[in-house]
Amino acid sequence: MPNTLKRNQKQETRNEKQQRMTTISTVKEMQQAARVARGEGKRLALVPTMGALHDGHLSLVQEARKHANHVTVSIYVNPTQFGPSEDFEEYPREIESDLKKLGEIGGVDAVFAPLAKEMYPHGQKNNVTWVTVDQLDQELCGRYREGHFRGVTTVVSKLFHACMPHVGVFGLKDAQQFLILRRMVQDLCMEVELVGVPTYREKDGLAASSRNVYLSDTHRHQAPIIYKALQYVRTLIVQGETDADVIRHQLNTMISLNSEGVVQYAQVVDVDFIQPVTQIEPGQELLVAAAVYFENTRLIDNVFVQSPDTL
Ligand code: PAF
Repeated sequence: MPNTLKRNQKQETRNEKQQRMTTISTVKEMQQAARVARGEGKRLALVPTMGALHDGHLSLVQEARKHANHVTVSIYVNPTQFGPSEDFEEYPREIESDLKKLGEIGGVDAVFAPLAKEMYPHGQKNNVTWVTVDQLDQELCGRYREGHFRGVTTVVSKLFHACMPHVGVFGLKDAQQFLILRRMVQDLCMEVELVGVPTYREKDGLAASSRNVYLSDTHRHQAPIIYKALQYVRTLIVQGETDADVIRHQLNTMISLNSEGVVQYAQVVDVDFIQPVTQIEPGQELLVAAAVYFENTRLIDNVFVQSPDTL
């Protein structure tokens, strides 16, 4: 087939995909669209995002497609999950290029990009209804970002009510967020299945993040040490190390000695209550996680690991 014909066909396919994707900005319209899709017997997936979409988000869309035949991506920079000194104002907002990317990869039926007044009808400051998951928000990011997870669980509950998905798809880079949302869904009997997607990584191992663009060239070069250190300590656990202090120390030291990154936390927790572990038990499911500042850019990463059955 001549190349021009092939190109035209490709273009048509892309246009078809783009035409199928509707952008919705009100909760009412979103609920109506979801109701129609449910009425047609479709299985609905929601991929909640704050926009500034990168390959990691696009991999969530692809995963969503495996679990559903109607995919909604929400794009909303949620103010209530940012602390007063955090980067809410500066957080990248790139709706036009986000829509273009989603149109190009295809497989997205709706984009829900609500205005602030849709999500917080009485204004963010007058919001009085919150969803909180106790205990699981005390360590890791929760220790340093007060109110962050309350903002996440509240907005995700709202997004679930607006988009009415059967499946919610989340990246495991935000492992604590995933574990908290999983618990929220169980405890509140929400009829949503949560799917956690392994962290999308650049070729050198750095976890994809909307914040990576803020790294200087030097720091971008150094940042993959976080994942290397996580992999190293995962091996120590798999090989039978039972002292969690050794793991914490090794993780912290390896990152600090090999980069200019300032470690905020290097922690080993259990996956049920996200509490620091002292002695690793046989067959224990653990989350090893780190947060590292490169100047003002805060990166997080983690690995899940199960200790050997006999120790
Ligand atoms: O992971 C994120 O991008 C956000 O925390 C989420 C789940 C979209 C809620 O605002």
